[in-house]
Amino acid sequence: ERDISGKLPLKGKKILITAGPTYEAIDPVRFIGNHSTGKMGFDIANEAAKMGAEVILVSGPTHLSVDNSMIELIRVQSAEEMYIQCHKYFDSVDVTIAAAAVADYRPKNVAQQKIKKNDETFTITLEKTKDILASLGAIKKNQFLIGFALETENEIEHAKQKIQKKNLDLIVLNSLNDEGAGFGQPTNKVTFIDKNFVIEPMDLKSKEAVALDIINKIIQHYEA
Ligand code: CTP
Ligand code: CA
Repeated sequence: ERDISGKLPLKGKKILITAGPTYEAIDPVRFIGNHSTGKMGFDIANEAAKMGAEVILVSGPTHLSVDNSMIELIRVQSAEEMYIQCHKYFDSVDVTIAAAAVADYRPKNVAQQKIKKNDETFTITLEKTKDILASLGAIKKNQFLIGFALETENEIEHAKQKIQKKNLDLIVLNSLNDEGAGFGQPTNKVTFIDKNFVIEPMDLKSKEAVALDIINKIIQHYEA
């Protein structure tokens, strides 16, 4: 519908998208989370669906919902649950976009009962979660794999390292340095870096517009 020719350039394509934060349980009533709203991932899902793609949207806890029959929303809580859902669908998709703000660590032990306050200080030991995107990169065949990177220093260098480490085709580097970009903001300033390390800085724009830019990268990939 968005295409000027009136065609649906992603018709027949299946796209897996991760979105939102993850919640890592401490006990039955507490968790470790982050401020991701899920908006970036949901915007990408909507733009992909408008282009005719069939979308599997695996999202951590968010207030957002979907209103498009081309999008199947799978709600999860933890990084482990997101990992399981992604691996369930990865074989069957053409494109994967990891827009989720996955927790890097989770409590090593989850208390079965609500933890009572006791001592003056309290320590939680954390262990690494699985890197979902890297695990998909390690098994990818023909899938076009897109990741995000959030960096505050040596942005380009760190993003390039993530491309290699996670076997990505494209990374969307999010710049927090610019005013009006990032978590809880309606706008993003991103730089695209492809697997050949071709760098393309984009203007500050709405998350919907960034989502459309990402979808256009996918369309270009299939046109080439
Ligand atoms: N990611 C993931 N699973 C994780 C952590 C990250 O799938 N356990 C994905 C994110 O969705 C994002 C990309 O990996 O697409 C990069 O996330 P980022 O937090 O920038 O990088 P990390 O690899 O976690 O490294 P660090 O936080 O140390 O920079
Ligand atoms: Ca991280």
